Amino acid sequence: MAEPRSRRSVLAVPGSNPRFVEKARRLDVDAFFLDLEDAVAPLEKEDARTTAVKALADGGWGGKVRSVRVNDVSTEWAYRDVVTVVENAGAHLDALVLPKVTAARDVHWLDTLLTQIERAMGLPVGRIGIEAQIEDAKGLVNVDEIAAASPRLETLVYGPADFMASINMKSLVVGEQPPGYDTGDAYHHVLMRILVAARAHGLQAIDGPYLQIRDVDAFRRAAGRTAALGFDGKWVLHPLQVEAANEVFAPSQEDYEHAERILDAYAHATTVDRRGAVMLGDEMLDEASRKMALVVAGKGRAAGLRRGRSSESFEPQD
Ligand code: GLV
Ligand code: MG
Repeated sequence: MAEPRSRRSVLAVPGSNPRFVEKARRLDVDAFFLDLEDAVAPLEKEDARTTAVKALADGGWGGKVRSVRVNDVSTEWAYRDVVTVVENAGAHLDALVLPKVTAARDVHWLDTLLTQIERAMGLPVGRIGIEAQIEDAKGLVNVDEIAAASPRLETLVYGPADFMASINMKSLVVGEQPPGYDTGDAYHHVLMRILVAARAHGLQAIDGPYLQIRDVDAFRRAAGRTAALGFDGKWVLHPLQVEAANEVFAPSQEDYEHAERILDAYAHATTVDRRGAVMLGDEMLDEASRKMALVVAGKGRAAGLRRGRSSESFEPQD
């Protein structure tokens, strides 16, 4: 399987605002999406499609993962968002973000429509991925069937703002603990549920936005929590949040090099020495250590980390 694309930082760009689109080109994010949904007023929806198509077709996005968030399947805008964007800029698009997914049938709808457009336009069938946002109680209850709904799926994305509204959470501060809840993490179940469903189906898990955009320390704390659980990245809404996301969701250089050393040592042990367990310094390694190291090394490689001189070669030890 190809290594997944890096999505440590996923920039939300209002699709109706050419000035923001221009700014987004210069930011050092792994991925971005041009938003046709909640950041765009109903009367601006049509113009936003045109702006998004032009932004994609003009190029200049470097190696960033290019997505568009269309409106959800219950709206009158959704089908035309997909048709306009993919017919006119399908070759310059990596994925569509589908918000407010409540069941597998929402993903089936988008998968089928994409296939029809790709065929009609002579685009490679199946290249454009789908990112499914889980942002209400129904979506969470059905998250397993959603995660299994299409080979186009690349990520499950947690939508905290809509989710908090959907379950009537008593707070208006997106991403922070609701006042009055003083034991544990009020979001742990939701985050873990999404993460486990994503992993069970080989998808990336992406955390949604943190809305207090000037409080970078708070962003870093919120991102640090989901990164620690295993999430692959987080939406960013402002240039101030970009560096923090890129740092928090990449392994440290030290952890990355350590993971590469574990892989080397374990490969040597199992293939040359024919042993299933081996010592690396004071650390005992077995097959489970290899799997954990593979995750850290994979995230590090995807984030562009490379081995320093000190860890280039592995010296077998007794
Ligand atoms: C994002 O779409 C959210 O609802 O938080
Ligand atoms: Mg939302």
